[in-house]
Amino acid sequence: TVEVVGELAALRARIDGWKREGLRVGFVPTMGNLHAGHYSLVRLARANADRVVASIFVNPTQFGPGEDYERYPRTPDADVAGLQAAGCDLAWMPTVEAMYPLGTARAVRVQVPGITDVLDGAHRPGHFDGVCTVVARLFNQVRPDVAVFGRKDYQQLAVIRHMVHDLAFPIEVLGADIVREDDGLARSSRNQYLSAEERAKAPAIHRALLAMRDAVQDGQGWRQAEAAAAAQLQAEGFEVDYAVLRTPLLVEPPEAAAPGDDGRRVALVAARLGRTRLIDNLEFSLH
Ligand code: PAJ
Repeated sequence: TVEVVGELAALRARIDGWKREGLRVGFVPTMGNLHAGHYSLVRLARANADRVVASIFVNPTQFGPGEDYERYPRTPDADVAGLQAAGCDLAWMPTVEAMYPLGTARAVRVQVPGITDVLDGAHRPGHFDGVCTVVARLFNQVRPDVAVFGRKDYQQLAVIRHMVHDLAFPIEVLGADIVREDDGLARSSRNQYLSAEERAKAPAIHRALLAMRDAVQDGQGWRQAEAAAAAQLQAEGFEVDYAVLRTPLLVEPPEAAAPGDDGRRVALVAARLGRTRLIDNLEFSLH
């Protein structure tokens, strides 16, 4: 059964015990309100470790002013039951005070330059600083051998890989495939903010990603493909933050056939329906 832990001393004691037994520890950081996407990460961790820890912590430092920190859905009882069913051993549920003992204003921060200047980093200033700040803390608390992140948050995964490499965290990072609804909408805790009318429109994001992929695979210009995707989404009532094609490093435009270019590309969209901001992406190959 899944053990629920809220005190750092108790977490350390349990993990020390596992380490003494030579067990490999897997870790899935989340903000709770768990769904099939999160549970697929737990199963991937399960397949790559002897014990699995999932954290549930709605991290205040990664939300901007006017974003949804206060109204972010909190469903701890259902989350713990779901973690149990998915084969998780320990749910780490710290308080804000335990995570930020000096308060958030005086907290030591972790900042990854470059890749955080673009896309969601540009549209949500400080967001990735908050993500890195909390994930570095979580890594030091849990000390996992392997940590799993979803490809749904494509840029977040790239930023975390960068941080792990540069700070020499002895942690293997695994990316998990995007879990979608039958109509293509990527699973997200924020989907429940959508009205019935907005929910019916939301799969247009996935269709726009597929259209961008098909266009460039057919040899059409990538700028045209981006513009067509943005126009299509706007016509359906979205406010588009970006609809773009990139190489996997994200900062490069897709024509940059640098030496060693393997033809891998990613289409990314962030768009708002009413007050709800949705992100999604699609990885593909030019050939
Ligand atoms: P959260 O949005 O709860 O997501 C937790 C993890 O689940 C992330 O790695 C995310 O990419 C993954 N995930 C969410 N929806 C998914 C889907 N449909 N398919 C596959 N994976 C999915 O991301 C965060 O929390 C936070 O930023 C966190 C890393 C926990 C730091 O606070």
